[in-house]
Amino acid sequence: MELTVEEIGGRGDGYAKVDGRPLFVPLTVPGDRVKARVVSEAAAGFRGELVELLSPGPARAEPPCPHFGACGGCALQMLEEQAYLAWKEAQVDKALSHAALSPLERLPMIRTPPRSRRRVSLAAQRRGREIIVGYRQRLSHRVVPIESCLLLQPALEDLLAPLADLLRETGFAAGGIVATACENGVDLALGGLEASDLELRERLAAFAEAQDLARLSLLDEEGGYEPLVVRRPPQVNFGGVPVAVPPGVFLQASKAGEEALTAAITSELGGDAHRIAELFCGAGSFTFPLSRFGWVDAFEADDAALEALDGAVRTNGLAGRITAQRRDLYRQPLRASELAAYSAVVFDPPRAGAKDQAAQIAQSGVPLVVAVSCNPATFARDVRLLVDGGYRLVKVATLDQFPWSPHVELVGVLRLSGN
Ligand SMILES: C[S@@+](CC[C@H](N)C(=O)[O-])C[C@H]1O[C@@H](n2cnc3c(N)ncnc32)[C@H](O)[C@@H]1O
Repeated sequence: MELTVEEIGGRGDGYAKVDGRPLFVPLTVPGDRVKARVVSEAAAGFRGELVELLSPGPARAEPPCPHFGACGGCALQMLEEQAYLAWKEAQVDKALSHAALSPLERLPMIRTPPRSRRRVSLAAQRRGREIIVGYRQRLSHRVVPIESCLLLQPALEDLLAPLADLLRETGFAAGGIVATACENGVDLALGGLEASDLELRERLAAFAEAQDLARLSLLDEEGGYEPLVVRRPPQVNFGGVPVAVPPGVFLQASKAGEEALTAAITSELGGDAHRIAELFCGAGSFTFPLSRFGWVDAFEADDAALEALDGAVRTNGLAGRITAQRRDLYRQPLRASELAAYSAVVFDPPRAGAKDQAAQIAQSGVPLVVAVSCNPATFARDVRLLVDGGYRLVKVATLDQFPWSPHVELVGVLRLSGN
């Protein structure tokens, strides 16, 4: 059918209403006149596919990446700059207004540049005699070969071609690949390889040497890592403190993003933040910068992340300023009575947010709360609980750490009314 795209939905796909329900057509922008085909139907509307762009809308721009369209990433690369920024801001506006939240101040979006992503998940697939290394197509298991990616740090992009060569030469069938550009080299994990024979191990060690990798691990189907070659323990710096990064542990997508979030958090802390609770702390991206302001009790459920954090605390003589504590904050949120002694709480949960934890913070009486989130909807839900508990939403800062994707991150600053 022929239609004119009206808006872009929350996942980055343009849509037009058909019989009162949205037909989502990926890779389209408002004002596009398109010929589209319906692929499937769901309760929320129809999923479609672009057959032909009949005439472009005013917000359409030339996508800079040669893989755009075939590759499943960068859903918004065909959207003109101003329209792109307005769309991202609108996602935050919608979530805030849905929860009836109006911050006293909305800061302009902070943007991290292309070519700054420090971790990439790739897929590899055998097709006949060829091995394809790249990204998956949208909603498909098919892998699109990628020779270049505008998102990646050069250290990761430079690995794409040698990786494809390596996998072609080995007994590789299919599997995932995770590469992280640490500050002292790339930490590479390869799935789909059975490195039981000595020859293959030697080939992988030679690859690590030739590419100057920091570490090469094997990745099993359950997501477990077996380090095979460690040439240097991969390391990142959080606020100037070196931390040895275990394979697969959470890291902010880019150094620039990590620094922007850190600055947004720490700029709220003053001399009175002498005792800080940091929830969902990971390996310590914010913990070390926070410890300059006061004592930090950092809570996290992932053992590997905690071990990395605790190791860096001890090695750097910070045991008098930071404690790293294992706690499943979904099953056992910090109770209001446990939080009451802190002067500030920082929490940065996964996409699902931290509803029960927010309900406890809301009753805690802690004067300053900083909420970091990668999901506007759960952010707004959790912040609503805090506001209902007597907090004022003083500021919301937004961060675009995932250029051209529909993702947007937020930092909310809440102060107890009267503080
Ligand atoms: C968005 S990451 C933030 C990590 C850290 N703030 C950073 O910036 O590096 C969310 C963190 O929550 C942790 N997490 C997930 N589920 C958890 C749970 N039930 N209890 C505690 N931590 C959890 C993850 O392991 C991850 O480190």
